[in-house]
Amino acid sequence: MDKAQQDALKKAAGIEAAKLIENGMIAGLGTGSTVRFLVDELGRRVQEEGLEFTGVTTSRRTQEQAESYGIKIVDIDDVDHIDVTIDGADEVDKNFNGIKGGGAALLWEKIVATNSDKIVWIVDESKVVDTIGKFPLPVEVIPFGAGHVVKEFEAKGYKPVLRLDAEGKEVRTDENNFVVDLHLGRIDHPQELAEDLINTVGVVEHGLFLNMVDKVIVGDPNGPRVMTNSNK
Ligand code: 5RP
Repeated sequence: MDKAQQDALKKAAGIEAAKLIENGMIAGLGTGSTVRFLVDELGRRVQEEGLEFTGVTTSRRTQEQAESYGIKIVDIDDVDHIDVTIDGADEVDKNFNGIKGGGAALLWEKIVATNSDKIVWIVDESKVVDTIGKFPLPVEVIPFGAGHVVKEFEAKGYKPVLRLDAEGKEVRTDENNFVVDLHLGRIDHPQELAEDLINTVGVVEHGLFLNMVDKVIVGDPNGPRVMTNSNK
């Protein structure tokens, strides 16, 4: 699949998911290239159809895009609930275990997801996998002592790589932290790994989102299809 085909599937999933947002809702808006298509469509609905909703975003990038369309964005602490959050993902398996954080927004994404009544992911079909882990697992770490965390991960065989930008500088999250990507190849025991990571001093959050999502809208060449999680 080339990038243009992949973008077409991402766009179809984003447009389909935008239908879930109704007047008066509080919606969590994720981060990434698929979510950009979602926000474009929501912006169109706000401007052309008079849709009125309140958004809580998982990154400053999404906030800027949403506000450019006149979508009202509020701080997460200014709402008492979020009706639904729509976000992208890097991988998802049949048990609805996923990896997120390719766009370095995993911490805010997990906080918004945890406070949402419903979670929907939008992905192109290449993201649906048998076993997660081929996509490097992002881990957000505090800059102070990050080198020691990387060494600890190396000793455990997690194959960590500190994420750098195009100029070779450490990527910073919206909370000014670093991201370490773990090149694991496959993750057979995601729950155990999640516990190990979150119990590592210096780790703020990891990109394993295990059985959190309710519904995945998959951009498929035959049209968007929905995977529904009945185990939640
Ligand atoms: C950002 C994320 C994204 O949702 C994930 O990386 C998918 O991005 P894209 O839609 O660009 O493929 O987790 O932190």
